[in-house]
Amino acid sequence: MRHPLVPQEKVLYNLSMRLDAFLSKFAGFSRSQSRKLIKDRAVTLNGEVANDSSAAVDEGDMVVVNGMTVEAFGMIYIALNKPADYVCSREKAEGKSVFDLVETNFSAELSVAGRLDKDTTGLVLLSNDGKFIHEVISPRNLVEKEYLVETTDEITVEQVSTLSIGVFIGKNEFSKPVFIEVIDSSHLKIVLTEGRYHEVKRLVSAAGNNVRRLHRTRIGSYVLSSRLEPGEWDYLSDAEKKRITGT
Ligand code: URA
Repeated sequence: MRHPLVPQEKVLYNLSMRLDAFLSKFAGFSRSQSRKLIKDRAVTLNGEVANDSSAAVDEGDMVVVNGMTVEAFGMIYIALNKPADYVCSREKAEGKSVFDLVETNFSAELSVAGRLDKDTTGLVLLSNDGKFIHEVISPRNLVEKEYLVETTDEITVEQVSTLSIGVFIGKNEFSKPVFIEVIDSSHLKIVLTEGRYHEVKRLVSAAGNNVRRLHRTRIGSYVLSSRLEPGEWDYLSDAEKKRITGT
């Protein structure tokens, strides 16, 4: 799914860096490829052929490589509606990746803040801001993750009670949702502040049922927008980002 290029006002970088560093950061070339391009006179800086790899690029400067303008970008925060059958990793052998859905000049810079399993759908956050990612996934920060769960079997009172008081989901691994709500005989809402491997599936299975479908609807107090169809993504505004981490 393509998405319009980043609006310039959102991404202007407060930058001053060497031309070869600029090309590797924003155009994806290695440092040596960047130097070779400069040597081969393939790069212009503000309309003049650049011949010095160490030339300074400042905010507002225009860098063009082989006729293509290189766009600078800053901190990026994205919400994506993950479809089933996509993995949250870059491992080609694992199949289609959420990173393939974000086709931009900066997609190589992004990481996932809280992975979902291949068959899980819903809200995934992507960013190049390591501090933000840490804040979202660190259990210390108690950032809530809300899941809609469809079970294979009818939900019983005992299962709800087990989930409410918490249960061992593995050796020495105790998990207790911060909130649980029965929606109907086969649907539950579960809110966690941790993000352990297969945590919801292991919780439901330890309580005596199984997950048929799993969908993440919310992180912090940011709810996945109904405007985003599966596979679509959008930038988070400052206010939306604040709803996730509080900062
Ligand atoms: N818990 C799971 O079991 N799977 C997910 O994808 C997310 C939370």
